[in-house]
Amino acid sequence: MLDAFGQPQSAVVLGGTSDLAGAVVRALAQRRLRTLVLAGRDEERLRSAASSAVAAGAERVSTVRFDAQDVSDAARAVDECFDVAGPVDLLLLAVGVLSHRQDELDSSATAEVVTATYSWPAVALTRAASRMSEQGYGRIVVLSSLVAVRVPRHNFVYGSAKAGLDAFSIGLGDALSGTGVIVQVVRLGRAPTKMTEGLPGAPLSTTPEAVADAVVAGLESRAQVVWVPPAARWVALARLVPQSLWRRIPG
Ligand SMILES: NC(=O)c1ccc[n+]([C@@H]2O[C@H](COP(=O)([O-])OP(=O)(O)OC[C@H]3O[C@@H](n4cnc5c(N)ncnc54)[C@H](OP(=O)(O)O)[C@@H]3O)[C@@H](O)[C@H]2O)c1
Repeated sequence: MLDAFGQPQSAVVLGGTSDLAGAVVRALAQRRLRTLVLAGRDEERLRSAASSAVAAGAERVSTVRFDAQDVSDAARAVDECFDVAGPVDLLLLAVGVLSHRQDELDSSATAEVVTATYSWPAVALTRAASRMSEQGYGRIVVLSSLVAVRVPRHNFVYGSAKAGLDAFSIGLGDALSGTGVIVQVVRLGRAPTKMTEGLPGAPLSTTPEAVADAVVAGLESRAQVVWVPPAARWVALARLVPQSLWRRIPG
């Protein structure tokens, strides 16, 4: 069960090899997290993430395999995670693919990004919401992005997938009202991880540790949206900028 401060004893991480998820897991394991299921596609990276979680204080860590390019398998993967974990206090969604070649209008890159960043997560979250509703409680945390708030021209495929997932998650949270399940969307600026390796710095950037701290603090609240860094909430004003100006902002 989540404690009085919203801190979980059991968690499932979809995207268990994500650098940001790793920072969140370490922060949670230093608190109350003991039972953990890390789900991902690569057994070796999953084992390494599991070792870090154990070193941080987790006691029972299991792994589940899935491929986020296979949307038809998403519900099965979530069911396996819940069956292995037992009651799940927290589900963290950290799956995503960032394409660096969106200017080339590459249809296979579009399919890869949209499937792993929007379609698979949306189906997986739907199944997780059903399982948590059956429990009668639980927290779902979705790692969203500032690009979801206003999609940048230079990165519109990934940005639109994150925008779709962000809107989906907000809608899911509303649909779950009264079930005891809360959905939190964490909108974060660029953080140095393997996803952003080689990219230049960006305004309102952050770190994996700051993201972890914000997730932990967010769990203590029932906030629907958590902004990282906090000043990033002003990015919402970007929605007021006319597209004719917005498209001129360099990437
Ligand atoms: N870093 C940032 O600046 C930033 C900013 C805003 C939002 N986010 C979001 O934060 C989340 C975590 O990103 P991150 O920065 O920690 O990057 P990351 O380390 O690359 O994490 C991405 C995760 O998605 C998994 N994944 C990708 N394709 C998959 C597939 N076909 N099947 C299964 N798993 C797959 C990766 O698995 P592998 O380890 O096997 O590749 C990894 O676990 C993502 O949703 C991302 O969109 C990141």
